[in-house]
Amino acid sequence: LIHSARQIVQVVANGERALRGRDMSTIAVMEGSDTEYLSLLVNRKGLIEDIGTDTEIKMRHPDLKVDRRIDASGQCIIPGLVDAHTHPVWAGDRVHEFAMKLAGATYMEVHKAGGGIHFTVDHTRRASEEELYCSFKKRLSTMIKTGTTLVECKSGYGLDMNTEIKMLKVIERARTDFHIDISSTYCGAHAVPKGKTSAEATEDVINAQLPKIKEMMNDGELMVDNIDVFCEQGVFDTEQSRRILQAGKEMGLLINFHGDELHPTRSAEMGAELSATAISHLEEISDDGIAAMVKSDSVGVVLPTTAYILRLNPPPVRKMIDGGMAVALGSDFNPNAYCMSMPLVMHLACVILKMSMPEALAAATINSAAALGKADMHGSIERGKYANLIVINATRQVLWEHLIYQMGCHDEVIHYVIHHGSVV
Ligand code: NIG
Ligand code: FE
Repeated sequence: LIHSARQIVQVVANGERALRGRDMSTIAVMEGSDTEYLSLLVNRKGLIEDIGTDTEIKMRHPDLKVDRRIDASGQCIIPGLVDAHTHPVWAGDRVHEFAMKLAGATYMEVHKAGGGIHFTVDHTRRASEEELYCSFKKRLSTMIKTGTTLVECKSGYGLDMNTEIKMLKVIERARTDFHIDISSTYCGAHAVPKGKTSAEATEDVINAQLPKIKEMMNDGELMVDNIDVFCEQGVFDTEQSRRILQAGKEMGLLINFHGDELHPTRSAEMGAELSATAISHLEEISDDGIAAMVKSDSVGVVLPTTAYILRLNPPPVRKMIDGGMAVALGSDFNPNAYCMSMPLVMHLACVILKMSMPEALAAATINSAAALGKADMHGSIERGKYANLIVINATRQVLWEHLIYQMGCHDEVIHYVIHHGSVV
């Protein structure tokens, strides 16, 4: 029983659906009073069983034996945050490239000179599974501390069969060892490996890597949820990307890929044709692309850290939301954009992408869960969903907006992070 909360704040979710347009700004606040606090009843599976005032819960469950209580006295409860896009498994960092980019080098200039993803691939190939797991665990802890309860994690710094599988195994281990829910993504087409053409790399992904992954999934050795590709000028073109995504889809993976980031490539139109679950970045999305994604029900995952750090034009989020697209948020944590904090991402989304705070909350909860095909169990405080929650400190008054307003450090704001009903 999570008891004595003052407020339960959440997006007005409607079960499994992502929110669009004006619905993204509707916040539902359940208010307790000085005499009537609010409680959440969680069952042994970590699912929300009931929500109500303390009296209502007692009335509805007269024989209730509570074996664990979490005190949320006078505080505010919001849904746990969902980070819809991260690259959290890698070795080596790229602090030296940060200096180059500050001095004016573009992302693609660094990449073409053999740095960027290639630099990380070299280090990740050399690292052992244990080394990768160790740094991954630390990163997950940081994410949990800032309120993330479900995170999408990509491979993509191997670009060869063995390293891609090593990365997917590292992600797999954390599913059972760690108090955070994970959606894993095979991103073997994250860049064209040195010594290969993009056509050769496309064939390797489709005819060698994907079949091997399928075999391991069938044998229960691996669980993979999504297929990703970097659809970009000079990386994988739109047709190559389409074939890779289609091959993944035929294996039962959800399509969730990088598109229309640095150049307009009609990624959104192509993804919509394949009924992509989600498409990330979209800085250069066209008007047709917006319309196509609205029609195909694909979620647009925007990543404000990327535009910020690379000084790109931000994605046209106002056009996307006002046009009826379900927009979600991700941190894009990777050696280029070193940010693990969804509250900071929400802050940037408000300032740089011109989202309102309620829209940012919807984008970082129910909509990012929908981007991972997991809105049936995540992203809102509803009966039958996981009790993944943040308890916000009520220092002055209970104002959930402090989570977005305060920049960077959230120790004062976040009192507890709750995963499947347990404080983590
Ligand atoms: O989402 N754009 C491609 N992939 C990543 C960057 C990965 C990297 O630079 O290591 C992104 O920003
Ligand atoms: Fe990315």
